[in-house]
Amino acid sequence: MTALNVVVGISGGIAAYKAVSVIRELVLAGHDVHVVATSNALKFVGLPTLEAISRNPVHTDLYEGVDEVRHVSVGQAADVIVVAPATANTIAKIATGQASDFLGNTILASTAPVVLAPAMHTEMWQNPATVANVETLRSRGIRFVGPESGQLTGSDSGLGRMSEPSDIVAAVLDVAVASRDLAGRSVLVTAGGTREPLDPVRFIGNRSSGKQGVALATAAAARGASVTLIGANLEVAPPAGVRFIEVGTTLELQSIVNAEAVTADLIVMAAAVADYRPAETAQSKIKKRSDSSTLELRLEENPDILRGVVAARSGDQVIVGFAAETEPDDAALLELGRAKVTRKGCDYLVVNRVGWTEGFASDRNTVIVINTAGDRVGEASGSKLSVAHRILDLVFAAR
Ligand code: CTP
Repeated sequence: MTALNVVVGISGGIAAYKAVSVIRELVLAGHDVHVVATSNALKFVGLPTLEAISRNPVHTDLYEGVDEVRHVSVGQAADVIVVAPATANTIAKIATGQASDFLGNTILASTAPVVLAPAMHTEMWQNPATVANVETLRSRGIRFVGPESGQLTGSDSGLGRMSEPSDIVAAVLDVAVASRDLAGRSVLVTAGGTREPLDPVRFIGNRSSGKQGVALATAAAARGASVTLIGANLEVAPPAGVRFIEVGTTLELQSIVNAEAVTADLIVMAAAVADYRPAETAQSKIKKRSDSSTLELRLEENPDILRGVVAARSGDQVIVGFAAETEPDDAALLELGRAKVTRKGCDYLVVNRVGWTEGFASDRNTVIVINTAGDRVGEASGSKLSVAHRILDLVFAAR
């Protein structure tokens, strides 16, 4: 297993002393461990112990390393985050997205999987407030390890004891491996919308923001793939950890896609590509005409990049196209999708509805995925990032 960047969060419970063994085991297995302790945690276990065992500085204070924007960088760099012990208070704070301390910021700023190892008295674990918080977190994909039944801090015993360090470490490594199911794969994503210049100040373009393509690049990178993102006029920043190439026009996009596609295992053409470009691009601003109330533009056809990639495909590359359509009704939308997948020859087509208020600029999306035969293989609805993960699940499912 390759070395992982593991953030070990520690909150303020007596089981914090057992977090030392979690850290020790991870470090001895070759992982790079970064401890984020709440100030209450440091009442139970000493900072020098945590620094010596983790071999890295411990983060507690939000106002430390401000120049390095450390309150987000630690979470952004993590491959997996574990909080052990996770107290009832910390669970409640994570469930409500609080960023009042370093640990809260780290979790909010991260797209890495999170594992929580709760430790508290039975009554607290069974309290409806905690039960609801745990349910919320589980529904967001956060994994729980324990708690176990056994001796608690006082003379009482019951459910609420933190799992043994080796069980916590095993769960963390499991989650990290499962979440990196695209390790070793090379993914090429196009995003945004191409623009075709009419003159130095005007263009023919479309309203694609690039958000869905950027979410796909983010999701693939978080799952361990090596990602190249080709962005045309993105309205959002490209994610950290991907190779980014910026283009403007369809012809520029085509030349970069053709060069990059050769080594890609998965090609996702999420970009909205201008089908036509002006036959002539004026070298100075086109002036308003005084002799006519109309202006005619002559356009010529752009190449179909996706069809070119399909024609040149090598080995068992997976090629995915997108189809943004304005059909109001699902059956008609799918009919257009089926015709398009046949015309393009790609393995999958992600069909979504766009309109004046739907699709492009939104942070959410609803898509139907069909295969090359036109059969519906799945659908997804939700944030563009969750839709991205589902698309990756669907197109890699059979591979
Ligand atoms: N595409 C492409 N090159 C083009 C046009 C589109 O590679 N010149 C890709 C897009 O990136 C997308 C898919 O083909 O993945 C479908 O794009 P779309 O614009 O829906 O298809 P068109 O063939 O242009 O069909 P139409 O505009 O008539 O719906």
